[in-house]
Amino acid sequence: MKIEMPTLPYATNALEPVISQKTIEYHYGKHLQTYVDNLKKFVVGTEFEGKSVEQIVEKAPEGPIFNNAGQVLNHTLYFLQFKAPSAASKEPKGKLKDAIIRDFKSFEDFKNEFAAASVGLFGSGWAWLAADKDGKLHISKEANGSNPLHHGLKPILGFDVWEHAYYLDYQNRRPDHIKALWDIIDWEKVEERY
Ligand SMILES: [Fe+2]
Repeated sequence: MKIEMPTLPYATNALEPVISQKTIEYHYGKHLQTYVDNLKKFVVGTEFEGKSVEQIVEKAPEGPIFNNAGQVLNHTLYFLQFKAPSAASKEPKGKLKDAIIRDFKSFEDFKNEFAAASVGLFGSGWAWLAADKDGKLHISKEANGSNPLHHGLKPILGFDVWEHAYYLDYQNRRPDHIKALWDIIDWEKVEERY
């Protein structure tokens, strides 16, 4: 992907009551915009100028370029994986569902393990469902702005557990926010990534 803001495929209030319009306006409109602006600025004159966001996340060493590229990739995948609760399918179908059952026993077991990783992540970071080169699924806990791509895994589904993702709507109740997110996952979109 290019270093640019993704276009949201839904209205800013479409994810309510799971994610409020106000949170989308700050999280997408301010936080992600800042990561995009910073990354554009920081790559100028470096070996990463002109590279895709994915290439930067794969190759950049720890530091401001990596942190901002990771957050552009993380948030782009994050905001594009949601759908209004009334339209969301609530569970995957097809090959992703088969792989989840193969690697986690059941969809419920997967959700429980993924929620535990999200809730248990200390400080700021991300929980990701990611696939290795053989298609095996892994739950990957990433600190701060990292992404599974940095370790050679393909990111499929990500939960942002930075407080900026939920504090306006849930304050300190991260588990409640994580539980609610399952109602707005666009599983068709997520499966396309697998
Ligand atoms: Fe975020």
